[in-house]
Amino acid sequence: MNKVASSFQTRGFHLHRDGLPGNKCSEKIEVVLYYQIYYNGNRLRECVIWFTFSRTTEKKLFFTKEQERWCWTLEKLVIHGQKRLRGEVTVSGAKNAAVAILPAAILSDNNCIIENIPDILDISILKNILTNLGAKVEHMNGTSIKVDSSNTISYTATDKQIGKLRASYYLMGALLGRFKKAIVTFPGGCDFGVRPIDQHIKGFEALGAKVEIEHGRVIITAHKLIGAPIYLDVVSVGATINIMLAAVKAEGITTIENPAKEPHIVDLANFLNAMGADIKGAGTDIIKIRGVRELKGGHTYTIIPDQIEAGTFMIAAAATRGDVLVKNIIPKHMESLTAKLQEMNVRVDEFDDSIRVSCKDKIQKVNIKTLPYPGFPTDLQPPITALLCRAEGTSIVTEGVWDNRFQYVDELKRMGANIRVEGRMAVIDGAARLTGAPIRALDLRAGAAMVIAGLMARGETVVSNIEYIDRGYEKLEEKLKALGADIQRIQE
Ligand code: EPZ
Repeated sequence: MNKVASSFQTRGFHLHRDGLPGNKCSEKIEVVLYYQIYYNGNRLRECVIWFTFSRTTEKKLFFTKEQERWCWTLEKLVIHGQKRLRGEVTVSGAKNAAVAILPAAILSDNNCIIENIPDILDISILKNILTNLGAKVEHMNGTSIKVDSSNTISYTATDKQIGKLRASYYLMGALLGRFKKAIVTFPGGCDFGVRPIDQHIKGFEALGAKVEIEHGRVIITAHKLIGAPIYLDVVSVGATINIMLAAVKAEGITTIENPAKEPHIVDLANFLNAMGADIKGAGTDIIKIRGVRELKGGHTYTIIPDQIEAGTFMIAAAATRGDVLVKNIIPKHMESLTAKLQEMNVRVDEFDDSIRVSCKDKIQKVNIKTLPYPGFPTDLQPPITALLCRAEGTSIVTEGVWDNRFQYVDELKRMGANIRVEGRMAVIDGAARLTGAPIRALDLRAGAAMVIAGLMARGETVVSNIEYIDRGYEKLEEKLKALGADIQRIQE
């Protein structure tokens, strides 16, 4: 009996993924099939069939079990250095304001629109968290988000994402302020040594709340919240903001002495006051909050520009002997950096809402100590340390805020940097000439320092772990490319 048989073999399966602006990427899937027809065991016919599927899809946030963190599909930045940066760059909205203002929106049982939100990973995670709590979070257009928390909102915030985002600790103050109850996973965040929350707890307890820590959760309950005088033993951005969030609807007056004065503290106070809160003195040595019964939503608020992103571009301009106009910023917020760059012999011209940084020559050594605002920001410490690797002479950088924020120095040493770390101090010998190397971003700002070092170095630098950079910088490589940098994002 004549036997006809056929077989299919899949010969190929290719997945092409090209990064697209924002969190989109185009995927093209090719399937190659191999088809054969046999007659009496003899191959009669064969053919190869190609199928190509293409689609635009979201870059996948995947949770890497082994590293226990969110990251985009594995990507790296490849930089060919020694290109002068030239042109204009526009700064995005402030990450550290946005991550406080989004949770604050749930204090009003209405909706509000927040504009100038940066397109970064931390915001994607926070949107997920708020949605899981029951809030309706909608991306209106470009940089606007509408938060509607008129539905039932849960006061239990314990999903896995919470522990990954330091700023999720603002849910403690916001949920306590709204429900007089909050159960929140203990906050995670970048590893700068110990990151206690004792000042947050001190503030909540002063307002009459009971705070317990159990099974990795912070459980805060209060019969009622009553305004009180609170003195912060340490100047803490997080504690100042959390106390403001818990106190806006408390009975009576709360005062916060020795608070943090960062621009995002003032921005949050302005946002809450726009909702009907009564906060005075944000940005000064004492904040006074008169509790109100309710916060009305229904308004639109625009977030300030990102001070740290602006500083990163100013430093990158000086590092590459470039000439860059950094736009959409508040020059006052940049004063401490401007002063240090000028001391280094870098030209800095201030305008109403932009700053021009130009640098042709050698730069001079300086000593820097990071301090709470208006001191030199600790979040610009890694980028400025990278810049000082090409200064004439020896500079000393002292970390005045965090215990252990020089771990990235070993990565710079792989590029030939000559830096000695002694506790909270780094001694940088500027004579070294950096050369390209494969390096890792160990956290958000260390990642920015790696990119700046790559722009300065001779040859090719490959930066990995760049999801850290995506957590806080919007389209960093595209903005640098537009300034003439030779930088590519590649897939692994
Ligand atoms: C905020 O972190 C920022 N994060 C950090 O930026 C920034 O480095 C830091 O402030 C300082 O400016 C956000 O805004 C989300 P702190 P935070 O409470 O609030 C000690 C970035 O790159 N302390 O001001 O966690 C603490 O150990 C990030 O954008 C206590 O002792 O910082 C530290 O030494 C990284 N007890 C100092 O205060 C407390 O209860 C400042 O911490 C709280 C803090």
